[in-house]
Parts: sequence; structure tokens; C-alpha cells
Amino acid sequence: MISEQPGYAYDNALAEQRERLRTLEALFDAGTIAELEARGVGPGRHCLEVGAGGGSIAMWLADRVAPDGKVVATDLDTTVLDGLSHPNLEVRVHDVLEDDLAVGEFDLVHLRLVLGWLGDRRAALRRLVGVLKPGGWLVAEDLDFASAVPDPRMGAQRCARFERIVEAHHAVIAERHGYDPGYGRRLAGDVEAAGLADSGCLGRASMWRGGEPGGEIWRLSLEQLRDGIVDSGLLDAADADAAIELCADPGFSSLSPIMMAAWGRRPL
Ligand SMILES: C[S@@+](CC[C@H](N)C(=O)[O-])C[C@H]1O[C@@H](n2cnc3c(N)ncnc32)[C@H](O)[C@@H]1O
Repeated sequence: MISEQPGYAYDNALAEQRERLRTLEALFDAGTIAELEARGVGPGRHCLEVGAGGGSIAMWLADRVAPDGKVVATDLDTTVLDGLSHPNLEVRVHDVLEDDLAVGEFDLVHLRLVLGWLGDRRAALRRLVGVLKPGGWLVAEDLDFASAVPDPRMGAQRCARFERIVEAHHAVIAERHGYDPGYGRRLAGDVEAAGLADSGCLGRASMWRGGEPGGEIWRLSLEQLRDGIVDSGLLDAADADAAIELCADPGFSSLSPIMMAAWGRRPL
């Protein structure tokens, strides 16, 4: 069962969610690493990875800042992170909306696919700006599903099937969990409003296909949300199952959501 509570929909303790986290990493780590490299993260830096999930970026950062830097990786649920081991990595159970962190401690704060799930995203950003050292960078990444449309070459029937489940997906995670599927378009404005200087943003998108990580992320997400989608009455069980099967079909092809990266630094 996935969570019925407002906030993050998935349960990191479930095997299928661990697979989902690994698939997110396969899809997005290369772009994230390019953004972090562009901000100049290197040896000796102190970094905070918020909502670290499966931990691949936290581990990359830990290697990158070695031998004298450190990385604090936080999450509401550290089930997967607890299995990681690195001399420069500290894992903390931490709610970014509630729990304190030392002010002015970090050279870099990164978070990916976290803000979209939060009730008060601007408050979370303000808290994270507070933990940066003067001159330290914040890099935030989140999706905008505006571009999540099927490839017309799949044919009208399969396109319509995918469009219906995407619509139901958005409705269920918005209504039950407070997730904003269009948060990517707001992210850069929120980062600027948090008082950061030298801000900028860049979106990344690609084609997602069945049997590849893109089709798999749709399948793994929709399988876990399936009962909520059917309960919502937006799709019946047969249509939901057929759409989930479509995402695994080698003929499946869709434009991905945009992964928006936005950054800025705490003024000196
Ligand atoms: C979609 S996963 C992304 C994981 C990882 N950042 C990535 O992109 O691969 C979102 C993660 O944020 C965590 N999370 C959700 N709400 C949070 C909160 N209020 N404070 C800290 N972590 C949170 C979840 O437990 C989950 O591990």
C-alpha cells in the first residue's frame, strides 16, 4: 500500500519503491551531476542533500568533496540511505518543513523531486537558504508535466489510453497528496523569491520509451498509484491495467516531463 497521507505518496520501504528510486536516478543523475559540476562543487565542501531517496547523488557528492568535505543526506524515510556507507556521508532522518539544521553550515544544498510534494514550498526554500554559508549555492530540481504527452506514432488509441492515465495520475497525486504536477514552471520564481543571487534555470526533457527507464518510471509509479486511480473513478480497473501495461510495451513512446533545475547563491 502506498501512503494515504498528504505529502509524499510512495513508501521507501517497499521493494517496488526502491526500484522506482533507482529508476529516477538512472533517468536524472547525469543531468543533476552536470548542474552540480557547473556550480563548482569540489574537495573540502560541505553539502546537504535533502530528500536524498536512494542516495546516488549523496554518494556522488561524498566522493567529490573527499577527503576533507562532508555530505549530510536527509530524508523523512532513510530506509535506503541507511544501507549506504561512505566516510564522508552522514545520514539523518529529517523533515525539511519541521526539523532544524545548523544555520550557515553548507556550501551547497541540493534537492530533487522533493519540493513538489511539500505543503509550503517557499517556507522550505527559505529554511534551506538559511543553512547556506554566504556565497553557498542552492540547486533545486523538480518536474513540470506540461510536456508529458504521447508520441503520435503510437496511434490514436494508445495515445488516448496514455493521456487518460496521465490525467488520472495528476488528479490523484494532486488531490490526495498535494503534489503540483506543474511545479517545475514555478521553481525558478520560488528560488529567486527566497533571496538568492546569481540565479538561473534550465529544463531537460527527452523521449521516454517502453522497456527503458522512462517507460519503467511510468509503470512503477502508476502501479503503486493504481488503486487510488481506480478508487477515484477516473479510470476503471481494466483501463488502468491496460495503460500500465502499455508503459512496459517496447512500442510505448512519450515525451518526458521537463526536469527543471533552478539555482542561486546566498549573497555574500
Ligand atoms: C521522488 S523521491 C526523490 C529522491 C531523490 N531526491 C531523487 O531525486 O532521486 C522524494 C524523496 O523526498 C523525501 N521527502 C518527502 N517529503 C520530505 C520532507 N518533508 N522532508 C524530507 N524528505 C522528504 C521522500 O521520502 C523521498 O525519499
